[in-house]
Amino acid sequence: MIPLDQYDKWSVLLEENAGLFLSKKELEEFATISEIERNNQLKEILEKPIANFTMVNEVYFRARWAEVLKMLYSQSNLNLLEIATGDADMIPQVLDRTHPNSHYITVNMNKILNVSLLNKTKNLHIIMDLVNDDAANIVKHLGEEKVDIIAFQHAVNDVIQAILCSREGIDTTDSDWMEVLPKMIKILQKETSENTLEQHAKIPFLSLLTELLKVLKKDGMIVMNHYMFQLDLDWGYPPELFEKMVPIIREWIKELKGCTEVFFQGFDTNWWIYLKKTES
Ligand SMILES: C[S@@+](CC[C@H](N)C(=O)[O-])C[C@H]1O[C@@H](n2cnc3c(N)ncnc32)[C@H](O)[C@@H]1O
Repeated sequence: MIPLDQYDKWSVLLEENAGLFLSKKELEEFATISEIERNNQLKEILEKPIANFTMVNEVYFRARWAEVLKMLYSQSNLNLLEIATGDADMIPQVLDRTHPNSHYITVNMNKILNVSLLNKTKNLHIIMDLVNDDAANIVKHLGEEKVDIIAFQHAVNDVIQAILCSREGIDTTDSDWMEVLPKMIKILQKETSENTLEQHAKIPFLSLLTELLKVLKKDGMIVMNHYMFQLDLDWGYPPELFEKMVPIIREWIKELKGCTEVFFQGFDTNWWIYLKKTES
């Protein structure tokens, strides 16, 4: 697997970042992991599909997103829209610490995961809004040119899976996402073996991005990252598709008007896409 990131850079920062990005309770849990074990866990996160979820995951992903957000927006009053957050709260957790005057909006349409996300973030001080709708309808909720950054935190695969489920009449809003996942994986196996993914997913995915570009301010940025989960692979997620998700959609995005891809050192193009809005 292409490593997500540089182990040497993050291993020396692990303890300091734990102090910066974990709550007191989380820090106590982190402190129970030995230094050798923390470094082993970090190496596995960066070099293998993710199989375990510990405080080391939280520290690494929060610190990585803090780096991204500071690099893109240095003031404290960031307006950020996250797409398909599920209940993965690393971005709101980071904003609360790095951009305390920010406004965090998530557009997320699974009811169970929305309840869980609100519970995980209930103690944060940032202004937070949850839009319980399809991201394709976001303009109706926010209006045009409202946010500085749009983030897909490990969400490109989920958005594509939801598009494919919708085609097949499978509900992803009122159902338990993990219970539907085996069906999603079956669809992805079929799309891969019949080579129909682009035919079935590209147009809805690009239409969704076109709507997202409308709510982004001029010169604003869409950031997408990706990584693999071992569980999905064990359940039959086509490995080539899971690993090459970003390069696959990069080809589709070349047809999108109104933005251009930009590149930053230290962000592998297999796992990251940065799109800068070029037109109003
Ligand atoms: C497994 S969770 C997301 C996981 C998360 N981003 C992560 O870090 O792994 C999947 C979420 O994507 C949401 N989702 C997928 N497509 C969406 C869309 N078009 N608009 C809004 N939410 C969407 C689902 O409703 C669900 O809450």
